[in-house]
Amino acid sequence: MKSKNKAVWGTRFNKPISKKFEKIGASIDIDKRLFEEDILGSIVHAQMLGKQKIINKKRSKKIIGGLKKIRNEIKRNKFNFSKKYEDIHLNIEKRLFTIIGSDAGYLHIARSRNDQVITDFKLWIKKSSIEVIKNINGLIKSFLKKAEGNIKTIMPGFTHLKNAQPIAFAHYLLAYVEMFKRDKERFVNNINYINECPLGVGALAGTSYKIDRNFTSKKLGFKKPTNNSIDTVSDRDFALDFLSSASICAVHISRLAEELIIWNSDIFKLIKFDDKMLTGSSIMPQKKNPDPAELIRGRAGENFGKLQAMLTTMKGLPLSYYKDMQEDKKLVFDSFDILMESILISNELVKSLKPNKERMLSLANEGYTTATDFADYLVQNKNLSFREGYIISAKLVNYAEKKKKKLNELDLNEIRKIKKDLDKDVMKVFDVRNSVNLKTSYGGTSTKNIKKMISKLKKEFK
Ligand code: ARG
Repeated sequence: MKSKNKAVWGTRFNKPISKKFEKIGASIDIDKRLFEEDILGSIVHAQMLGKQKIINKKRSKKIIGGLKKIRNEIKRNKFNFSKKYEDIHLNIEKRLFTIIGSDAGYLHIARSRNDQVITDFKLWIKKSSIEVIKNINGLIKSFLKKAEGNIKTIMPGFTHLKNAQPIAFAHYLLAYVEMFKRDKERFVNNINYINECPLGVGALAGTSYKIDRNFTSKKLGFKKPTNNSIDTVSDRDFALDFLSSASICAVHISRLAEELIIWNSDIFKLIKFDDKMLTGSSIMPQKKNPDPAELIRGRAGENFGKLQAMLTTMKGLPLSYYKDMQEDKKLVFDSFDILMESILISNELVKSLKPNKERMLSLANEGYTTATDFADYLVQNKNLSFREGYIISAKLVNYAEKKKKKLNELDLNEIRKIKKDLDKDVMKVFDVRNSVNLKTSYGGTSTKNIKKMISKLKKEFK
């Protein structure tokens, strides 16, 4: 084999790697996505080696020049990635040799691919978490806009998918804002965790060169170097954090999708989507199907799967580095791609949905949704315990059910059959708007609360 084409470890090997293994052993098709981070890490490492006089300044500059050239080549699609050189790190190193010659051999002083790959990966996850956060912000803004237009839209709130109590549609939308706010916080916190720089721990033991890890940390935007070289090359918690946060966010997206699908159904008819968020049927001419919502619901499982795979990979690994961990990048990249698409589709869905306000209001009156308000009225006005009020209200529901009437269709005489000493002011209790507006406790669905919350959130998400 010509030495030019040999693996960096070729000197000890009599045979090239099995082609069958190379197919799965080479990660270049996946990890070439780390090229920006890899080159940045190498540039900073070369600067540090020069600064510390571990290599001379001229050589350091030459290496950096070559690396920048490679970055340009990759950006312009002029770089030939090769499975023969396994991964992004060795592909770049090999190319550096062809560009600057034997000086390239000095770059790998005081580092290993083990610390290199985690440095790249942490930087990538940080960058990508910021992307996710941006998109979550966009989604939250769409929820807020929709909420603002629906402060007075009344609908039934559900528990067990049974009509429970009247709520404002805006309040429901704001519930999702809270969920996605927590998702955002999770990614923000993850970024705070990824503040220790792995570069310089070498294969697992550290190095005998007088390197300056504080310098590389700072230059790469980390707060400080990692404390323990063994932990550093073994640790993939940051990937797990990302995958777990992505999974929880996917849970929220999936619940949203599921709910919108139900509401869009011909049975519920609570909302409609814009035609651009629907597809037709090849056989049934009347159909308009909510495929985008269904797809993002379906894809959430992939996010969970990537997390499960990563947890399983890590649970049996002794310290420190094992090739098993190479698969971490595919899992995280895939999860990121799926999540980003799902967030964007969710955003489109929220923007495009139109509430069927009449239907919402009429459904809010079905299912005796103001029965709790009646019990509360009796407690607050008739000096009863809640349990006493509850029983009287349950009797009224039994009566209405028998008469096939909604609670707001009963007249005062009928209500007095259940509880004698009531005056006509009780009638307002069965008005769903009144019901909503009585829920003034912090976090409740009253119009006043919602208005306040929307203006607070709008300031937060400008
Ligand atoms: N491509 C490898 C990975 O992602 C880089 C680290 C290789 N280290 C090793 N000791 N083989 O895990």
